[in-house]
Amino acid sequence: MKNSRIIGFHKLDLSERRAIIREALGSAEIEDLDSLLDSGGLDSKRALSIVENVIGIYSLPFGVAMNFTINGKDRLVPMVVEEPSVIAASSNAAKMVRQGGGFHAQMEESLIVAQVELRSVRDIAAARQAIADDTEEVLRVAREAVPGLVRRGGGPKRLTIRELAPDHLVVHIAVDACDAMGANLANMVAEATGPLLARLAQAEVGLRILSNLSDERLVRVKAKIPFEALHKDAELGASAARAIEAASIFAERDPYRATTHNKGIMNGVDSVLLATGNDYRAVEAGAHAFAAKSGRYLPLATWRTREDGLFGSLEMPISVGVVGGTLRVHHAARFSLRLAEIESARDLAMLAGAAGLASNLAALRALSMEGILRGHMALHARSLASFVGAEPDEVEAVAARITFGNDFSELAARAALVAEREARQRST
Ligand code: MEV
Repeated sequence: MKNSRIIGFHKLDLSERRAIIREALGSAEIEDLDSLLDSGGLDSKRALSIVENVIGIYSLPFGVAMNFTINGKDRLVPMVVEEPSVIAASSNAAKMVRQGGGFHAQMEESLIVAQVELRSVRDIAAARQAIADDTEEVLRVAREAVPGLVRRGGGPKRLTIRELAPDHLVVHIAVDACDAMGANLANMVAEATGPLLARLAQAEVGLRILSNLSDERLVRVKAKIPFEALHKDAELGASAARAIEAASIFAERDPYRATTHNKGIMNGVDSVLLATGNDYRAVEAGAHAFAAKSGRYLPLATWRTREDGLFGSLEMPISVGVVGGTLRVHHAARFSLRLAEIESARDLAMLAGAAGLASNLAALRALSMEGILRGHMALHARSLASFVGAEPDEVEAVAARITFGNDFSELAARAALVAEREARQRST
C-alpha cells in the first residue's frame, strides 16, 4: 500500500470502492472479491465447524479506514463494526496524525502467560526454592508440550512465582506464541507443567490456564498532531488541543469518565479485531484489567499539549494472532490481513493500537470542539454586533440573534441590529 490517503473514497459507490480495493491488493488480488464481500466470508456449512447449535450466519458491516501511516508505512485498516461514525472518525483522526508524521508504534515483547495455580502449599519458602532450583526442568517440560512452536522459534521463555496467600501460589510461564494468539498453546504448557510444579511445591495443583491480563504483550502507540491539523485556524486548533488535554486529565482523575474514554479506544481496536477474526473478548478483558492494574481504573491513552502540537500516547495489552483459530475458516478475516498487509501478530497488534488511538482522538476532538466552536462563534457574534453599530447595552441581545440565525455575515448582523431595535421600541 503506497498511499492510504484515498481522497473521496466515502463518496464512491460500492462497486467503485471495491475497484479501488482490488487495485490496492495488486498482486495479492482475490478472484471473487464480490462474492467474498457479499457473503461476509463465511457460510453456514463452515460455521458448523466453528461453534455448536448453528442455525445460520450473522452479518455486520465491513469497512476500511483510510489515511493511516504507521511506522512510516501506509495501511488500509479493515474494520467490522455496527456503530456509525467509528470508521469515518478514525479515518479523520488518522488524517490529522498523518500531518504530524503518522503513528509510531512498538511492541517490545509478545508473550502470553500460562498460569498454574498451586493450593494448600505447606511451606511457601520451600516451595519457592524448589521451583526456583528446578526452573530449567519445568521449562524443559513446558517446551516438550509445544514442540512445533519451539521449532518455529517460540515457546516457553521464563517462569515467575507469585504468592497469593500464605498457602497459595501461582506460577506464570511466559510463552512466545509467535504469530498465534496462543491461548491453546499456553493452556497446553499449563497442563503439562502442572503435575511437576505441584510435586516440587508439595501442593495441590489448581487451575491450569492462560491469563488474559497480557501485560507482557503491550502495544505502545504515539502520535503528534500539529495544531493546524486539529483546525484550519491554528489558534482554534491550539484551543482544541488544550481541550483534548483537559478531557484526558478528566479521564485520568475519574474512573467513570475513563471507562467511556476507553470505550472510545475499544471502538477502534475491536473493529480491527473483528475484521481479522480475533478474540475481542480476550483483548477487552485484558485491556480493562490493565487499565485498573494500579488499583485505580485509568485511561489507556493520554494527551498533552506542547508548544509544537498535541501529543497522544497509548499503552495497552493486545493479544492477537494471524494464524490458526477463526482464520482457518473465515475468508473475510484472511482477506483483512492481506488488505492491511499484516506480516505478523505484532504488526496486527500495532495496527489495532493505532486504530484505538485514532478513535480516541476523534471522540475527544468532537466532544471538545463543540464547546470551543460555540464559544468562538459567541465571541465572533459579539464583535460583529459592535462592528455594525450595536451600543454596549445592545451587544449581547444582537449577538444572540446573530448566533440564533447562524448567519455571521455583516448583512445578517445589520438585520439583527434592526430587529433588536424594533423589538425594543415595540416593548416601550
Ligand atoms: C461512543 O461510542 C464513544 C465515545 O463515548 C467515547 C468518548 O466519550 O470518549 C464518544
